[in-house]
Order: sequence, then structure tokens, then C-alpha cells
Amino acid sequence: MPDDLAIRIEDLSITYKINVDTKRTLKNAVMRASKGEKVRMRKVEAVKHLTLDIPHGSVVGIVGANGAGKSTLMRSIAGILPPSEGRIIVNGKISTLLALGVGFNPALSGRDNIILGGLASGLSREEIEAKTDEIAEFAALPDGFIDMPVRTYSSGMYGRVAFSVAVNMTPDILLLDEALSAGDASFKEKSFGRMRELCAEARTILIVSHALATVTELCDVAIWMHKGQMLAKGKPQEIVDQYLKFLDVGALPSNFEDM
Ligand SMILES: Nc1ncnc2c1ncn2[C@@H]1O[C@H](COP(=O)(O)OP(=O)(O)OP(=O)(O)O)[C@@H](O)[C@H]1O
Ligand SMILES: [Mg+2]
Repeated sequence: MPDDLAIRIEDLSITYKINVDTKRTLKNAVMRASKGEKVRMRKVEAVKHLTLDIPHGSVVGIVGANGAGKSTLMRSIAGILPPSEGRIIVNGKISTLLALGVGFNPALSGRDNIILGGLASGLSREEIEAKTDEIAEFAALPDGFIDMPVRTYSSGMYGRVAFSVAVNMTPDILLLDEALSAGDASFKEKSFGRMRELCAEARTILIVSHALATVTELCDVAIWMHKGQMLAKGKPQEIVDQYLKFLDVGALPSNFEDM
């Protein structure tokens, strides 16, 4: 793929197969097998035939309704979820990718999770040690919480630590799924500032957000996901306006065929 690309997504489809039996016991499974019944499976096509090139240094905003496939797309770019069809090529070490808060261990303290996050993103022990205090400080949790187990955190506190880890690892490619929504007003402002810095450093950033102002203010391109498909791609303000119109009166772009 061309050097100037950070991510190339080719005809990507992701299908979840869900066992819809609510009582998943061994006994039930044996009973069904003895009667020759099949396990009832439901397929959810979360992403359908998506093709997209993301150049280095672009800040991409992803908008769309609940269940549109945004997080699924992010997880697959992060390498957590394999494509059912098509492929994703990432230019840069996969370890430099960070999805927010993925892999936090609830039994460990915030500080230990920062260290784990650093190891997961490929930093050396020394590099992490040098950064841990800075990251803990950026999260600015109330007194002593950074050394308490993460399971005792409020969701905003969890979000603060996760965001701090993600943005302070100086990744090549940063994936943020609803990252700015967890914190309170003051943290939001601080994280916005950090995002602007990262954007200015020409890093590639993907932001999924329902806060449409985040998309128009930070991103230089936006895509609208709808039922697993990319409905539209373009200037953030235009895409957000189209999306708002859709939310308001249900209007889809005229060139879109609902599949
Ligand atoms: N682990 C899973 N197993 C089965 N189905 C899933 C799973 N995760 C998501 N889905 C389904 O895939 C579709 C896309 O979900 P996804 O989480 O990607 O949407 P989203 O755009 O991130 O929505 P939201 O705005 O609510 O975060 C939905 O229909 C959802 O029910
Ligand atoms: Mg989501």
C-alpha cells in the first residue's frame, strides 16, 4: 500500500454469530443434540463491505446511530476483532494502536494498569517508569485513587485514566471510542487540549463520538456509519449536518440504498 497511508480498509465485513439460547447449559445442549436440534444462531452484520483509506496525519471523526458498527470497526482496526471478510492493513506497529481502556484489569490499581497499558503498547520498562507519574498526574484523580483498584472507580475516573494512557503513549495511530465523553467538564477541556496537540503533531487519529461538536472541531474528515455501512464521507461540518438531518427527519442521502 502507498507510504502515505496509515490504514487501508478493503471490503471489510464483520459478522457476529450469536448463540441466542438464553439457557446455555450442558444439559440443554445434550437434550437438543439427542433430539437432533440445531443450536439457534443469529448473525449480526455489524460492518458491511467497508472500503476506506486513511492517510497519515488525518484526524477522522466517525458518527452514526447506536449499533451502527462504529465500535466494531474500531475494534477490528485495533486488531482485537478479525475481519469476517476483506482486510485491514495498518502502516505502523500494531502495538502503537490503543483502544481506550481495553484490557484494563479491574483488580489492579490505576497505576498498575498504566504500566500494563505501556507494556501492551510496546514500551520498555524504563520508558514506562519514566511516563507513569506523568500519566497518573494527567488523569488527576481524587486523592489516593490512582493506587486503588480500578473496580472502585467511577466511570469518569476510569475514563480519565484510560484517556491519559492512550494519549500519553505517543502512539502513531490513536483510536478513541467515546473517549471524551466520560470525563467531567474540566477534564474534557484538558483532554481537548491534548487532542489538539496530538493533531498538530500530525498523528493519525480516529475518533468515534456522539458529541458532534468534537467531530467538527477536531477532525479534518468525517464518516457517517449507518447499519454497518459507510453512508457518507466528507467535510466534518457537512457530514454532521447530514447526520443531524437524518436524526431529525430520518432523511438518508439520496444515493444510499438501504441493504
Ligand atoms: N460482542 C458482540 N456480540 C454480538 N453482537 C455484537 C457485539 N458487539 C456489537 N454487536 C452488534 O453489532 C452491531 C454494531 O455494534 P457496535 O457496538 O459496533 O455499534 P456502535 O456504532 O459502536 O454503537 P454505539 O453508538 O451504541 O456505541 C449492533 O447490532 C450490536 O448489537
Ligand atoms: Mg460504540
